Amino acid sequence: MGRVRSEKLRRFYGKDQICESLDYDFDESDVVLGLDFGTSFSKVVIQDNALQKAYAVSFEDIDRGKETYLLPTRLFVTEEGLLSLSSGFDFYIDFKTAVMEMAGRKISSVMNKLESFAPTELATAYLALLIRYARSWFLVHTESVYRKTLINWDLNIGIASKNYRTSKERVFRTIAFAAWKLSRSSEPLTMAMVQNTLAEAVIHMAAEILFKIIGKNARKKDFGAQWLHTENVQVHPEVIAEVAGYVHSPMRRNGMHFLVDIGGSTVDMATFMIHENDGDNHYPILATDVVKYGTMMLHKNRMNHLKEEYGVDLFASQFFEDHFPGSEYYADLLRRKGFVFFEEDDFIEKMNKSDMQFWKQCSAKIGELIKYTYKDRYGYAPEWKKGLPVFICGGGARVVLYRDGIHERGERIAANGMGKFHVYSIPVPSGFKEQGLVPKEYERLAVAYGLSFTSENIGKIIPQSQVKDMPRRSVFQERDSDFIGKEYC
Ligand SMILES: Nc1ncnc2c1ncn2[C@@H]1O[C@H](COP(=O)(O)OP(=O)(O)OP(=O)(O)O)[C@@H](O)[C@H]1O
Ligand SMILES: [Mg+2]
Repeated sequence: MGRVRSEKLRRFYGKDQICESLDYDFDESDVVLGLDFGTSFSKVVIQDNALQKAYAVSFEDIDRGKETYLLPTRLFVTEEGLLSLSSGFDFYIDFKTAVMEMAGRKISSVMNKLESFAPTELATAYLALLIRYARSWFLVHTESVYRKTLINWDLNIGIASKNYRTSKERVFRTIAFAAWKLSRSSEPLTMAMVQNTLAEAVIHMAAEILFKIIGKNARKKDFGAQWLHTENVQVHPEVIAEVAGYVHSPMRRNGMHFLVDIGGSTVDMATFMIHENDGDNHYPILATDVVKYGTMMLHKNRMNHLKEEYGVDLFASQFFEDHFPGSEYYADLLRRKGFVFFEEDDFIEKMNKSDMQFWKQCSAKIGELIKYTYKDRYGYAPEWKKGLPVFICGGGARVVLYRDGIHERGERIAANGMGKFHVYSIPVPSGFKEQGLVPKEYERLAVAYGLSFTSENIGKIIPQSQVKDMPRRSVFQERDSDFIGKEYC
């Protein structure tokens, strides 16, 4: 599919269905918008599950970044108070983490020129604009396929596995529900519109709970045509979404798996089973953890270290915020900026030392999770002996420190007589190859791709709290230090 000029995209901006302007002789299709709302970058994949065709939404009309399938999770505000994904005189970041933590604090704009807003409001506004763009992009790029088609949309959004089946899940679902409604209008978006819609969304979600209690079905007309039915907006754990592509591929194996997603602010990890039950995929979750050791945390750790060592405060620099390079890169940049006041080798050595201290803490959390799964959750799994299938995902999977570190942790665990970690890559969906995506690009899209399957196709996710413990007496040596590092024993 060719590149579409912005004017054409604008023509459809906010339009819901191409067939709105055509006659009534149309087909119907169920299409799912899979939304990976990341702390640092968001990604969208839209899939027609009946045709098994998935499209990765490209943000080339919004962001001039090199990787066009990644949209920075950043909300701009113009001087007139209009919200935008691309430009403004000030902007907000970090709202996804704040929603996850639900600290109740408001978020200030980066330059502190604007009002502060609740994280849920910022997230709703951002997602509304993102969905509006993504749907328009899809309709323009598939005009020949869907021009006489009524599209029934589903919206799937990812959350950290630890938030699954907790009160936070409903918060994310309400945000997505409100964002969809806002995305249906092509009017410029303001915070007042966001706040009103969010309040309405809360009422609709409360109605859903009430209807469930009294055993009545909340019907679409109760909410009005601009809203999706609450049941068409679903939340799924990102780690399960990430393996949905694998589960639908010939590589798929049933049994226990371990996935680590190294994101911007957090490292989300889970051990889980993949089963088939009457033709449906089941995923009992064994253990999960979300720790704040993502790549931006590594970056902050390096910046703090630099400040301590050399007395330079580089953290405020937007340049460093926008790029996340390795330590050689810092050295080069500092040299070009004239900061040559240390020996380069010394600099890299010191940086590596601070990286290792950071990694030890993250690695200990991985060891703890594996050990807990083995000792308390499912010690009988044959994978302990055969070797645990492992997926290392997220943008941070490209950072050597994390990748090598996970391999090394696996080797230390194997030294206890267990099988080695078998690290797998998530397979490439064929539609993405046709779209011309390169491996580096589709790796980052695994969560959004998984979310673009219908909830039935993703399968049944059984939360950790509903999966009973099957502890066993150890048959391995189990040296604690190999699981979690000597300093944490
Ligand atoms: N080659 C690379 N080297 C170093 N860092 C990288 C590289 N590629 C991506 N990153 C960084 O990886 C980080 C995580 O990217 P990712 O898209 O997985 O995060 P996210 O989905 O926004 O976060 P989360 O899953 O925690 O919500 C980003 O901050 C990105 O800058
Ligand atoms: Mg992510």
